[in-house]
Amino acid sequence: MTLTRRQSLGLLGAAALTPGFAALASTETRISLRIQSASAELLKGVMTQGMVSTRPDGPPPVIRMKQGRPFTAKVENATPDFTTMHWHGLRLPNKMDGVPYLTQFPIGQGETFDYEFTPQDAGTYWYHPHCMTMEQMALGLTGIIVVEEAEAPGFDADIALNLRDFRLGSDGQFIDLWTARGAARAGTFGTVMTANWAVEPVEEAPAGGLVRLRIAATDTARIYKLFLPGATGQIIALDGHPLIAPLPLPQSEDTALLLAPGQRADLAIAMPVTEGETIDLMTHAPGAPRRLARLRATGGTLKRELSELKPLTANAIPEPDLAKARIEELVFGWSPEGDLPNDGLCGTLGYTFWSINRTPWPGDAAGSGPLVTLKHGESVILRLRNESPNDHPIHLHGLAFRVIASNRREVSPHWTDTALLLEKEVLDIAFVADNPGDWAFHCHVIEHQKTGLAGYIRIA
Ligand code: C2O
Ligand code: CU
Ligand code: CU
Repeated sequence: MTLTRRQSLGLLGAAALTPGFAALASTETRISLRIQSASAELLKGVMTQGMVSTRPDGPPPVIRMKQGRPFTAKVENATPDFTTMHWHGLRLPNKMDGVPYLTQFPIGQGETFDYEFTPQDAGTYWYHPHCMTMEQMALGLTGIIVVEEAEAPGFDADIALNLRDFRLGSDGQFIDLWTARGAARAGTFGTVMTANWAVEPVEEAPAGGLVRLRIAATDTARIYKLFLPGATGQIIALDGHPLIAPLPLPQSEDTALLLAPGQRADLAIAMPVTEGETIDLMTHAPGAPRRLARLRATGGTLKRELSELKPLTANAIPEPDLAKARIEELVFGWSPEGDLPNDGLCGTLGYTFWSINRTPWPGDAAGSGPLVTLKHGESVILRLRNESPNDHPIHLHGLAFRVIASNRREVSPHWTDTALLLEKEVLDIAFVADNPGDWAFHCHVIEHQKTGLAGYIRIA
């Protein structure tokens, strides 16, 4: 394959965030990512040290790919710890999935790994390490992936917000990234809420224009409850995939959109026509709602209407045959006492609290077999039974599934890769096992994942 253009996000980090970047993309996107230590001014006037990113001084950039066009990333590990890179939500060949021991060996200091795949689905996805996950994610290594549609839907601006917390003390430096207390409950929460590594950033968008706001919840624990008071627009996609019927924008706390760790939402927003007017992205938080980010209308007034947007085209995902589907139950619960996880080179929190089907994940794929083995091409319903009093965003790698039933609520049947399983809920998810390999399957509250709530599903 001849490369007609090369782009290195490692070198062009800041440039990659500018709107002109998309225009540079050609038939193949080729980037390099250098995982390295970083520092940044998260709190005014203090540099937070000891962060992890793909650049020395800011968040991992938005990676833009084109649907159906080859993508290559050379990932270099410039940290002393082991790592891997995972492309969350993308349906790709198993050996490119970035899961240590399951699909590749961890990448050591000074080593590189070439990831090569062609994204099949357009939409909003994200990337993060899958080794030393708790440490590296908590220290900053989470970024958004945009897979552009072959045909642009007609927005005036495309803004990505990477929502996440950092656990900082009053001196702006990291404090303990996890706690046993948190790991055994809903996770250990950060102290500073950010969007794109900034506290309440202001993003400019053309007055009267149409904005595609891509929101990714990449925190290790927080379930966001999002709303945009007074905003005009729609939710057009969830977890990368277009909604057949767009949903109204949540305007208040009681209608807030739950966005759990790993999940994404694409919003179509009509900006106010008056220069200087703003739209706030809020989340429910203990005490009072918090502003996560603000959009400010700038420039001469465009006169765009939401109805001018082309509806997003559905991604081509095979429909499971529910009448013939094989049903497998998976129970999420407390872990039997005693075992410490053996996590090889990829880090352990030092204790076990959680399990799937009564088995806590030992971390090293060699140590335990698949939770379920599926036949390539068969339709499947996984019945996810939550016996615990906590919520778990359950994520399946390499495939897209639909949530088809819940014992507690009405569910939306859009395609997803991460479903929020509420306390004591039973959720049925359905898909066609069309991608062969060993696919990680875990809770995306990283402290749950790293203390047992993980496993893998084999498609053979
Ligand atoms: Cu977002 Cu197993 O990962
Ligand atoms: Cu994933
Ligand atoms: Cu969990």
